[in-house]
Amino acid sequence: MVAGNWKMNKNLQEGVALATELKNNVTNPQCAVVIATPFIHLTEMARLLKGSPIAVAAENCADHASGAYTGEVSAEMVASTGATYCIIGHSERRLYYHETPDILREKVRLALDNGLRVIFCIGEVREEREANCQNEVVRSQMEGSLFDLSEENFRKITLAYEPVWAIGTGLTATPDQAEQMHAFIRSTVAERYGQAVADDTTILYGGSCNAKNAAELFSNPDVDGGLIGGASLKAPDFMTIINAR
Ligand code: PGA
Repeated sequence: MVAGNWKMNKNLQEGVALATELKNNVTNPQCAVVIATPFIHLTEMARLLKGSPIAVAAENCADHASGAYTGEVSAEMVASTGATYCIIGHSERRLYYHETPDILREKVRLALDNGLRVIFCIGEVREEREANCQNEVVRSQMEGSLFDLSEENFRKITLAYEPVWAIGTGLTATPDQAEQMHAFIRSTVAERYGQAVADDTTILYGGSCNAKNAAELFSNPDVDGGLIGGASLKAPDFMTIINAR
């Protein structure tokens, strides 16, 4: 899978133009393609991309089902637009909006209850990497928000390993660092859900993945694709990354 995360970029007209260009050019049948867009784009994206190989994702959803939460968008509302995925646990949400493992567990539950598939982000900050405790960090992120799911529900989760020090910085994990972490993540899933589930789990790499380095990152056996921020905002770059998978 290659998923684009537009973050807070592109107004509606710009978003429609980018999605139209992707729709007309994405042809790699070996790669699932997802674009995650701002909430206000979702209805239009789902309509535009219906019948195309590109699925639509929200970048977030609320941790409550409905009610007096001004400005929030529920998982049910996301699903009602025709979007089929939701990103949950992005490091920007954890950091800037103080989303805790408990909040994220609730968001995952609500997304799955409403029929959405989840792209769940995990990853360590620079200090944690420097202290060599990245494995413990990532394991506890999975345990804190995912590992009480049934096997059936866990199979609806795509994991995205995004070292926070690599996001938007131009610093990328080396292919070896990415492979080591992805193999660790898969072994942690295997301990909890068994090897068959672990083998079927899609684990994306994210963090300054671009048209130049994608092929090398994706050539690792445990790297099943990418979650792409900045480079997903330009159709030619994003298509090069899709074709690298
Ligand atoms: P980046 O972002 O590709 O711009 O580093 C990745 C992400 O945050 O998902």
